Amino acid sequence: MKLSPASLLLGAASVAQALSGAEWQKQSIYQILTDRFARTDGSTTEQCAITSYCGGTYKGLINHLDYIQGMGFTAVWISPIVKNLEGDTPHGTAYHGYWAQDIYSLNENFGTEQDLIDLSAALHARGMYLMVDIVTNHMGYNGCGDCVDYSLLKPFDNSGYYHPFCEINYDDDNSVRTCWEGDNQVSLPDLKTEDSNIRSTFSEWIQDLVAKYSIDGMRIDSVKHVEKDFWPGFLEAAGIYGIGEVLDGNPAIYGDWQQYMQGLMNYPLFYWVQETFSNPSATMDNLVNGINTLKGQADTAALGVFIENHDQKRFASLTGDMSLAKNAIAFTLLSDGIPILYQGQEQHFSGGDTPNQREALWTSGYNTESELYQLVATVNQVRNHTLAARNAESGYVKYQAWSVYSDSHSVAMRKGDVIGVFSNLGSGGSGYQITISGGNTGYAGGEEVVQVLGGDCNVVTADGAGGLNVDVGPDPVVLYKASALEGSGLCGR
Ligand SMILES: *[C@@H]1O[C@H](CO)[C@@H](O)[C@H](O)[C@H]1NC(C)=O
Repeated sequence: MKLSPASLLLGAASVAQALSGAEWQKQSIYQILTDRFARTDGSTTEQCAITSYCGGTYKGLINHLDYIQGMGFTAVWISPIVKNLEGDTPHGTAYHGYWAQDIYSLNENFGTEQDLIDLSAALHARGMYLMVDIVTNHMGYNGCGDCVDYSLLKPFDNSGYYHPFCEINYDDDNSVRTCWEGDNQVSLPDLKTEDSNIRSTFSEWIQDLVAKYSIDGMRIDSVKHVEKDFWPGFLEAAGIYGIGEVLDGNPAIYGDWQQYMQGLMNYPLFYWVQETFSNPSATMDNLVNGINTLKGQADTAALGVFIENHDQKRFASLTGDMSLAKNAIAFTLLSDGIPILYQGQEQHFSGGDTPNQREALWTSGYNTESELYQLVATVNQVRNHTLAARNAESGYVKYQAWSVYSDSHSVAMRKGDVIGVFSNLGSGGSGYQITISGGNTGYAGGEEVVQVLGGDCNVVTADGAGGLNVDVGPDPVVLYKASALEGSGLCGR
């Protein structure tokens, strides 16, 4: 990574220059559940009992970075790294990492401190970035409600550090902030993050963690469960970008949240994309209207966009239709914001509710020939090339995707020189032709346009006014102005 002269003078703790929010907006993130991505011995036949530790490690991950980079991802988000509760619970082990018991030690199931340092260095050597999942809302305890032995929790080792036990009423914001996540089988004691001593402990902790492991970004868990004014100080201490989980589909709350944390997961888009593309009888209306609404209320370029993660049912559990999966993935990767793909999406994994969406990736044999792996690689390449064009073009301030055509089963989204045409017809649906008018394509009369996805690199020509006829079918189509494709590597150009 590049060092400025100033950071060279600051010594070892600050060698890694933090990636700014604007730089994060150019990245494309691959989400990993460390326990389920790759084993140290590289074996791909090991079965994974879904609630137990299955043997994934940082060393295993280092050995499979080609697989991730080959899809065009530039950053890796790993599941929480700190020491968790040990042993089994009625909900299984803490293989996912969200049940911390000691924030100053690593979870040794995934490797040593040196292994994590090596992972960070291996990513940086490839020009890639490390994002670590961070939890400050709660700790974890194997047991009922408030019968917690606090002496096991480090450093917050007595009840005074925690809100009194209560069950969350999700209709009440104060209850969401102060009551406990978890249930009567695994308790998640809720920290009094409003206390200044807890805040300063977390600030020093994150500063040290970022320096020690050269972390470039954070995914932040349970953000909605912590009072808003905790976050600016925490982010400042960390000195790196964060993308927070506010698990809420209501677009109206995002503008205010971004006053405290600019980067958030785009849950509203997740719900719209899922309902629209998983069901051929849904129309495009909610998606198109929703995107326009959110754009008016939030800085969408700063949000993380996704259709799967470790907490949600996989898309392929809703429909096994490959064409619908292609549309949902291509749509998401080309949306405004920072795309995030959860391990296994590229292999069309189909696990449903928790914990079934946490399959071990190795059972796929890391197949780089799969249809979706190939699609993701192409679309990431398209996105990367549009970003390069954006950099070259001064004054190109508004760089948002917007709808330039929609009907009940298809939508065309334009972003600069690129137009993506997506449908929810499904594999069995009959195609039809649409016309995107000249003013909407942005293309000149007679402009040559290449079908970089879904058209075997065919070249089509815009009409005299720049309008374009496009054949909508079950699979997505991505069109790119031919004159802007030079040096992209797409379609051999
Ligand atoms: C993105 O495009 C730039 C050229 O603009 C290229 O140097 C870089 O390697 C590309 N990155 C990826 C991940 O493809």
